Order: sequence, then C-alpha cells, then structure tokens
Amino acid sequence: MGTESRKKDHVELVLRKDAQYAKTTRFERMDFMHNALPEIDLKDVDLSTTFLGKKISYPILITGMTGGYPAAKNINKELAKAAEKHGLAFGVGSQRAMIEKPKLKETYEVRSVAPNIPLLANIGAFQLKKYPFEQIESLVSSIEADGLAIHLNALQEVVQPEGDTDFSGVLDAIRKTCDRLSVPVVVKETGAGMNQSVAVKLKEAGASYIDVAGAGGTSWSKVEYFRSGPVPGFENWGIPTADCIVMCRNVLPIIASGGIRNGIDGVKAIALGADLCGAAYPFIKAWKDDALDEFIGVFKNQMKICAYLTGSKNHEQLKKAKLFFH
Ligand SMILES: Cc1cc2nc3c(=O)[nH]c(=O)nc-3n(C[C@H](O)[C@H](O)[C@H](O)COP(=O)(O)O)c2cc1C
Repeated sequence: MGTESRKKDHVELVLRKDAQYAKTTRFERMDFMHNALPEIDLKDVDLSTTFLGKKISYPILITGMTGGYPAAKNINKELAKAAEKHGLAFGVGSQRAMIEKPKLKETYEVRSVAPNIPLLANIGAFQLKKYPFEQIESLVSSIEADGLAIHLNALQEVVQPEGDTDFSGVLDAIRKTCDRLSVPVVVKETGAGMNQSVAVKLKEAGASYIDVAGAGGTSWSKVEYFRSGPVPGFENWGIPTADCIVMCRNVLPIIASGGIRNGIDGVKAIALGADLCGAAYPFIKAWKDDALDEFIGVFKNQMKICAYLTGSKNHEQLKKAKLFFH
C-alpha cells in the first residue's frame, strides 16, 4: 500500500474506531496540591512561553498528524488556523508522501493561515537513512517550518505488513541530520514512549527537544491491527506518558504527549517536568465534530485554572507546582 492511502486510512481509522490504549497515561495517580491561599488574581495568570524562538500564548503543541493526500490539505489548514488564533504551536504529519510525490507539498502548506506560530516539519527517522540530506532540509524550507520533528515508530512499523523494520543506524542518521540542519530538531515517539537512556542518546546526537509521546492515548499497534493485524498482542505496549516524563526530565527540554486529553493532564505534565504539553487525537476529533475552537478554549481555561489553584502566575512557576501521588 502506498504512503498516500496509508495516511488517509490512519486518519479515518483513528476517527471511526477505538484506537486508544486500554492502559492509562498514569496521570490519574497524581493530583495538584491545592493552594487555599493562591494570593494571585486569575486575570494575571499568563502561561505564555517561547518555543523554537517564537512566543506562544499557552504551552501547547498540536502534534503532527497528517498531509500527503488531498483531504489532508484542509485538515492541516483548519488545525493550523486554530493554533494561530489561540497562540499554540503546530506540527504537520509525516512529509514522506511529498518526497515520493512533490505535488503533494500543498497538503502540508499552512503558513498562509498560520504566519506567526512555531511550525514543525515531520519525517520518520527511518527515512533519514534513505533520502539525501538536501531533501530533508527542503521539507523544512518548503513549508517555512521553524523546526523538524523526526518520529520514532518502531512499534508501528513492526506490526505493519509493509513496515520498515531495519532500525539499525537510525541514531547515526539523526546525529548527521542534527549536525547539518538549519533549524532545531525535535525527536518524537508516536505513542509508545521514551526512556531515559534514549533521551540521553538523543541529547548526545544533538536533538533540541524530545516529545516523549507515551502510552495512554492513540495506540498505533491498534490502528495497524484495524488495517491488517498480522501480529496481535502489542495493543498495550509502551511506557505510560507520566512515567516517560519522570524518566526523561532534566536530560533535554520535554514535550509531553500521548493520551493528554484535557488541560489538567497537560498541566500535570508540565509540573512533572515537561516544558510543553501536546496532543494529536483530541484535536482531530474536535475538528471532525466541528468543535475545535470550543475544545481549545476549554483546554486553555483548564490550564489557567490549575495554575491559579496552585498559586502559579506563569509558566516558570507552574513548572514548580506541587503534585502529590496516590
Ligand atoms: C491520525 C493521526 C496521525 C498521525 N500521524 C503522525 C505522523 O505522520 N507523524 C508523527 O510524528 N506522528 C503522527 N501521529 C502521532 C501523534 O503525533 C502523537 O505522537 C500520538 O498520536 C500520541 O498522541 P495522542 O495520544 O494525543 O494521539 C499521528 C497521530 C494521529 C492521531
């Protein structure tokens, strides 16, 4: 099956079927230490921060999902437009399809509707071994991105009938890309999570951020089982997102995604050690339901209220908000 129709399948399956992990992110194990004396005014809470050299109003990234088939053009544009309106960061999905068919570039182009936000290009780590560096650099420049997200998806590839399963030499390919690329690199998982030793290797390779993309949200092995399902048993494989953050914190700046479904989980991720929170599925689901603007509004409000109730006036203070575990 070609890259174009696979990307279309992925979006449709995620929206139509239950492709979410049965196991949780483990954010439910923790609560914020409520501060009965916050001593701040809610209207003074400001969670803005910078990402890839640009200011965002809230520490939220809509992580890469789509592109590479005709209907994806509108999805990327709508998501990017909402990100611009709310001051969030945005990533396009894997640009492998436009390497294979350059005219598909237009399905990833969102700068006309999102001129000010941090924008991430996207390619699989496996593809770095296959294509010349100049082609990778052009993925970034052709959509005027501020950074490149390189995704790690060994779990998805191994359960996909047509998957690429030779991940040898991937770290070296990431290192060479980080050395030469004109913009910062974010290395991301896709839902199975990262541990500390992976984070350390990625730091040594020159990554600027990791997106831990842990277990508890969209399960890529489930998505692949819906498509064909050759080797069952890996539906719940992966490290829960909260555990990934604890393992990887203090190595590289962290984006925490994987199962974050509301602003309260997003803020827990930040208090645990992430710089930004991110999500994929809830944004595309809200877009499908024609409720994207409302969903983002509630998400931001939840983050703001959590900051208020922990006495955190800004992003820096929020990172130090106290959690207790149960
Ligand atoms: C429909 C869909 C398509 C995705 N495609 C990509 C992709 O092309 N590149 C990538 O790096 N991650 C991709 N992802 C993974 C997400 O960016 C994210 O890491 C993962 O889904 C976990 O987040 P979630 O639980 O909020 O969905 C995709 C996710 C979804 C839901």
